[in-house]
Amino acid sequence: MPDASAPGSPDVTKSMDQIVALCRRRGFVFQSSEIYGGINGFWDYGPLGTELKRNLKNAWWQDVVQRELIGPMGEPVDIVGVDCTIIMNPKVWEASGHVGGFADLMSTCRHCKKLMRTDHVWDMLTETEWFKALAELYADGAAVDSMQLKRWADTKGKKLAPNLALVRNPQVTLSWLVERMAGQPVAMPLREFLMHLASEQVAARGLTLPCPHCGGELTEPKPFNLMFKTLVGAVEDPANVAYLRPETAQGIFVNFQNVVDSTRVKVPFGIAQVGKAFRNEVTPRNFTFRSREFEQMEIEFFIHPGEADAWYRWWRDWRFSWWQSIGLTSSNLTLREHDRDELAHYAKEGAGTSDIEYRFPFTAPGFGELEGVAHRADFDLRAHATHSGKNDKARYFDQVRNERYFPHVIEPSAGADRGTLALICEAYTPDASRPSGVFMKFHPRMAPVKAGIFPLVNKDGMPEVGERLYRQLRKKHVVEFDEKQSIGKRYARMDEAGTPFCITIDTDTLSAQTVTIRHRDTQQQERMAIDAVPAWLDRQIGTED
Ligand code: GAP
Repeated sequence: MPDASAPGSPDVTKSMDQIVALCRRRGFVFQSSEIYGGINGFWDYGPLGTELKRNLKNAWWQDVVQRELIGPMGEPVDIVGVDCTIIMNPKVWEASGHVGGFADLMSTCRHCKKLMRTDHVWDMLTETEWFKALAELYADGAAVDSMQLKRWADTKGKKLAPNLALVRNPQVTLSWLVERMAGQPVAMPLREFLMHLASEQVAARGLTLPCPHCGGELTEPKPFNLMFKTLVGAVEDPANVAYLRPETAQGIFVNFQNVVDSTRVKVPFGIAQVGKAFRNEVTPRNFTFRSREFEQMEIEFFIHPGEADAWYRWWRDWRFSWWQSIGLTSSNLTLREHDRDELAHYAKEGAGTSDIEYRFPFTAPGFGELEGVAHRADFDLRAHATHSGKNDKARYFDQVRNERYFPHVIEPSAGADRGTLALICEAYTPDASRPSGVFMKFHPRMAPVKAGIFPLVNKDGMPEVGERLYRQLRKKHVVEFDEKQSIGKRYARMDEAGTPFCITIDTDTLSAQTVTIRHRDTQQQERMAIDAVPAWLDRQIGTED
């Protein structure tokens, strides 16, 4: 049995409220425009968060584009980068299907008029206080007590869910419920029980879930396009409407031919891009997990259609292991293969689609999507060939096979903000034995600050030696020099920032040219020659020559 109280154990229950508080206090993540009350679905990164996110994006770029990767048939994987504009010709989004179909089903509350994603309503409900109270009254659903429900409606219900049918018209609402339960040998599911309490007009409109905000009745779900619109140029004319890109992928597809013509790449090869994407999410929630402005790290990997299975499986497995290599533990990660009915129409006959999911504190014990790996067939290249009028002329000529075709695509598409959030949640490690009460256990490659350099006292030449070492390490790494406060307080600050190593200059440094290195996770210390520190730190972070 793992010890659930052990620091760093994946079983320690982590509180999202405490994680958000630490992010704000230590400068990982702030609310966007906080001094004006913030803006829903937008977040800023502070100094530590900016370094962390940059380390994540850099590691992705290095491992995907710059370093040698060996593919499923033992050959080097060829990937080049692009950096495209956020606003593109609106025809791109017509061809990609985003103008016609990039929609979520939405419901509006008939009473408080709030708009929400229909598929989020149940999760939102289960988080409300009034739902939890009703769930207690429901017990096991075998026999509900109408009197108790009426009492709840007249007291707590009036305050917490004033527009719930049970509260507005208990007589009618309860009579539907009693009628439904009469003579039913099987217990009613909780969801149906709640729908009964929310539906006054069962005969006319059927059962609906209530609004999580006020208990009111929700309208029929309607599609809502998630793209942000803007105007290009000075004239406010519908002809000038453009969109902020909702994914980085399309910039890659529309540049496919340019990359083929201007470089030596040959199928199989990939094009990678990191950049902002915008979606007018109806219910942004769970901190940065679902934001309206976020960053993606996407690869479109172009292959011969006959090799889709091998490349799909290779990309899925490599991306899964990559997240582990930067510090997410395997017990908090899962690979979820999509069922056929979840797949986009063009992907139904393909090699598959899977999500790499992480167990965030707000999804636990379940998981939330971090990255999708999809076989998109030739849908996008074909769509752009058709819409741009190039048609069959846009087909790729494969010199080795002497064949013209639209390459198929395997797309590993990851979220940089979700990745950063997963790193933060994974790193957050309560530890009552430390002065800070918590430490951030980042993988050294991801840690925003790699080392803290502390003169033990602010005299006897120690600050000067410390500063020299600081300047030397700073040539390659983000390190901090700190000569203020007690050494315990300095360790505590670094623990909260997730700095893996603290290097102390003491009297022995002056006599024997050695320093003390304190390891964040174990708090153990070792002595090392000061001259050996730069190469040693490189090895810990993986930046040695
Ligand atoms: N080109 C494919 C595509 O965009 P997606 O599943 O919609 O696929 C890919 O998005 C990744 O982008 C997700 O796995 C997630 O990490 C990130 N992502 C999507 N919507 C997001 C949002 N509203 N906030 C933060 N990250 C988001």
